[in-house]
Amino acid sequence: MNLDEFLYKLHYETDQITPPDWEVNWEDAPLPYKLYQGLPFIELDSEISPELGRTEKPTLKSLSDFLSYSFGLTQVSESFPFPGDTGPWLTYRRFIPSGGGLYPNELYLYLKMDGVADGIYHYDAAHHRLVCLREGNFDHYLDQALGSRCDLSSVIGAIFISTFFWKNFFKYHNFSYRLQGLDAGFVIGQLLEVGKRLGFETGVYYQFLDRALHHLIGINEKEESVYAVIPLSMDKKMTWFDDREHKRISAEKLCKELPPLHPQHYVRSKEIIDYPMLLKMNEACMMDTFSADPNKNSFKKEEWSKSSISLSKAKRLSPDFYSACRKRYSPGLDFVLKPINENTLSSLLNETSAVRSYRNDVDKESKQLPSRLSIYVTTYQIEGLPHGVYVYDDGKHSLVPLAEGDYRTALQDGLLSAFVNTTQIPLSFTIAGDTGHLKDRFGYRGHRIQHMEAGILSHSLNLAASALNLGAHPILGFHVPWYDELFQLKKVGRTSLLHLSVGYYRSNGRLQGSLRF
Ligand SMILES: Cc1cc2nc3c(=O)[nH]c(=O)nc-3n(C[C@H](O)[C@H](O)[C@H](O)COP(=O)(O)O)c2cc1C
Repeated sequence: MNLDEFLYKLHYETDQITPPDWEVNWEDAPLPYKLYQGLPFIELDSEISPELGRTEKPTLKSLSDFLSYSFGLTQVSESFPFPGDTGPWLTYRRFIPSGGGLYPNELYLYLKMDGVADGIYHYDAAHHRLVCLREGNFDHYLDQALGSRCDLSSVIGAIFISTFFWKNFFKYHNFSYRLQGLDAGFVIGQLLEVGKRLGFETGVYYQFLDRALHHLIGINEKEESVYAVIPLSMDKKMTWFDDREHKRISAEKLCKELPPLHPQHYVRSKEIIDYPMLLKMNEACMMDTFSADPNKNSFKKEEWSKSSISLSKAKRLSPDFYSACRKRYSPGLDFVLKPINENTLSSLLNETSAVRSYRNDVDKESKQLPSRLSIYVTTYQIEGLPHGVYVYDDGKHSLVPLAEGDYRTALQDGLLSAFVNTTQIPLSFTIAGDTGHLKDRFGYRGHRIQHMEAGILSHSLNLAASALNLGAHPILGFHVPWYDELFQLKKVGRTSLLHLSVGYYRSNGRLQGSLRF
């Protein structure tokens, strides 16, 4: 199968990309976290600070909180998610969701801050500690791997968000490819939010010399690949995306500047089956050199001729962030229908504003996320708003009506399984993006950039819902052509990337305990 056919089927004909006789071998499932063996490590504080204050100078404690909030294991939970399940489902929960709770991403850090030896570390989520992979200062190397665009002298470190293919391929087969990008987006969204609360300046780099970074952190590209890099700085005036022409080096040459690493790690699975399409896709995404970007800022924003319904003015929420993170949960069948007022919907959408202008190397300074992604929603029992389908106009903070009616049954019919009961759900969001998956601009890498951005945007809705005492359940298990039709996306050249059900929920019957104090 060629890559275009793969991406088409992955999106619109998902049953065609997984073998019909595919059976998940749960007995041999991998761990949801990567464990390194025989390397020195730095223990982090197991207590999570309930309040995150801005720090002038980062400490090991602020770094510990940064990691706990964004990717740490926080709770253990035993539940029976679906009626008729034979045994309890044991999961290690985190403050962010992940498709199937499998958390295919891993975090690596480059640190050069007081109290920690300069070097490259892996965040060991299972033990909440930093495993040292390579000691030293790598400013020069990382600078070149990022295309000499980032002022590394001003950073205190950088986070590398990787995808470890097998961690969710073992369950979802090729479908895992879409989840891997989306999941990375949720992690990035949370890292940006927590970083902001701790006073870290952040920016997301989606473009870098992949093989050079893999070499730096010592990962095997047949297993794992870096999807994004987020430098961290305390300097508000730092230059993030320097566009001037530089003498740029190839990944191959850069790798020669450092000796290879061969660390041992453990994933538990005894048998790991091949995933050739993921490797082929990953290979096609790789950048070996930096080239000038001829199509800068060429995104086209959707325009609507219909008049829109203004939403009430909403102030930014100032929630108890710790409690919003702790409460966050995907309610599944626990949604209960209760009316939501228009102010709440307005606040929910308003909370996506910070993310719409996040710093990243696609936009540089131009902040065009709303041109790449849009938010569609079906509403039911929203006080002051007719039931129907709408698209959000972020510039006017208003809703453009597309169709009137109760769409709950149509939404249910488009799900691949009864993950939620849509009759109980007042708000159903769809994050939509360009059907070409940004290929014109970034080649095959565009697909994963688009999915990461959809994850970032979805996570802002997710957190806002939790702060408003609502539940939000992300869903990728839906029939894309069906939802595209329902939200009228085809005629605007967009397609559904992720769905989110939002509403009130009852406390569910599960046994849950905190893994932290
Ligand atoms: C990208 C993404 C896709 C998801 N897709 C589905 C889905 O199709 N069906 C479903 O029931 N849950 C889906 N989920 C929800 C996860 O199963 C859920 O986050 C995970 O089990 C952890 O539970 P928690 O969110 O309550 O912590 C998805 C989550 C993410 C982040």
